[in-house]
Amino acid sequence: MTSGKSALSEEGYSRILWASRRMPVLDSIKKRWAKEKPLTGIRVGACLHVTTETANLVLAIKEGGGEVFLCASNPLSTQDDVAAALRDLGVPTFAVRGEDRNTYFDNIRKIIDKRPQYTMDDGADLVSTLHCERQDVLEGVIAGTEETTTGVIRLKAMAREGVLRYPIIAVNDAMTKYLFDNRYGTGQSSIDGILRATNCLIAGKDIVVAGYGWCGRGIAKRAQGMGARVTVVEVDAIKALEAAMDGFRVATMAEAAPYGDIFITATGNIHVIRDEHFALMKDGAILANSGHFNVEIDVQALEGSALSKQRIRENVIEYTMADGRRLLLIGEGRLVNLAAAEGHPAEVMDMSFSNQALTLEWLVKSKPSLPCDVCRVPEEIDREVAALKLSSMGFGLEALTEEQQRYLSSWR
Ligand code: ADE
Repeated sequence: MTSGKSALSEEGYSRILWASRRMPVLDSIKKRWAKEKPLTGIRVGACLHVTTETANLVLAIKEGGGEVFLCASNPLSTQDDVAAALRDLGVPTFAVRGEDRNTYFDNIRKIIDKRPQYTMDDGADLVSTLHCERQDVLEGVIAGTEETTTGVIRLKAMAREGVLRYPIIAVNDAMTKYLFDNRYGTGQSSIDGILRATNCLIAGKDIVVAGYGWCGRGIAKRAQGMGARVTVVEVDAIKALEAAMDGFRVATMAEAAPYGDIFITATGNIHVIRDEHFALMKDGAILANSGHFNVEIDVQALEGSALSKQRIRENVIEYTMADGRRLLLIGEGRLVNLAAAEGHPAEVMDMSFSNQALTLEWLVKSKPSLPCDVCRVPEEIDREVAALKLSSMGFGLEALTEEQQRYLSSWR
């Protein structure tokens, strides 16, 4: 980068480049877009975690001719060096790590003020604020995309109530997204956050994972791979059974609370770990959340029942209970992978954000006629991302012979 930039911005820029080298699929889209300029004249409002990977997505949009405005999708996930670099690179970015709730929503409103024609959301705060507060802007929005499970659930609730006013493509539900980002991305980056915050040993620990969706599966598998004894807490009998047959202990939170060393929530639900569980936990238990919102661990109840609290390490608050037990909360109960680490690695975000990019291009170029509902990513995009990723990894794909094709298409 040219001189005259702040040291913070220079640091952000070099980290964005580092990530770009691990995002070959998005990079190939960006290079094509630089020639074809398919997004010329469109305005995109993006509410995403402000990370090096997101930077590469928004820079690709800019390269494709689009105007893009960015705010954070979580108050604690912004990488300030990345935000500074993006501003220097001409992407208006409204986000500061640790911003309070009012600032967080004010920044979302700044994106809405830009009157986006397309929204890119992660958790649906941009879409819900737009629907609740700005009917005038809503009229000009053509379509949107949603990155995460929690956002898709919220948007489906809006569609069910008949209040969703434009179609949103659930990027989360593309196979090349959830099977990789949710599983391997969350699996690795959640453990990464816990390690960076505590530097604790995983081997030999009892780790309790709440939720056995794709994120919970990834976390459980990675923790097991590092030598932890893993317990899964689930409300769905089929998922619980799967966890049991995948080799995990299955228990209720009340059963697991007394013996767990580390608790990780990944359910998308509220108060999964609450007062009755804090009361049973042992001294030194570590609490971390991987879900989108900071509601899975009842932090208010913890604050209420603790006698005192102190910041014992960066990103760790130690709560001392009336009986002297100390409970350790990482990253204020916000998503641990982004609050205490750098989020999912670039290699996996390459797939998620290539889905975002190709879906945006499809929306702009094909102008599909879609209902005001949560819609699927076209299967061709999903398959294209898989094929490009596989080839970027240097792996070949076997082809069916003519004889095999005939065999598969014949009932005889
Ligand atoms: N969500 C999880 N990890 C992320 C990352 N690295 N960048 C953007 N969004 C993310």
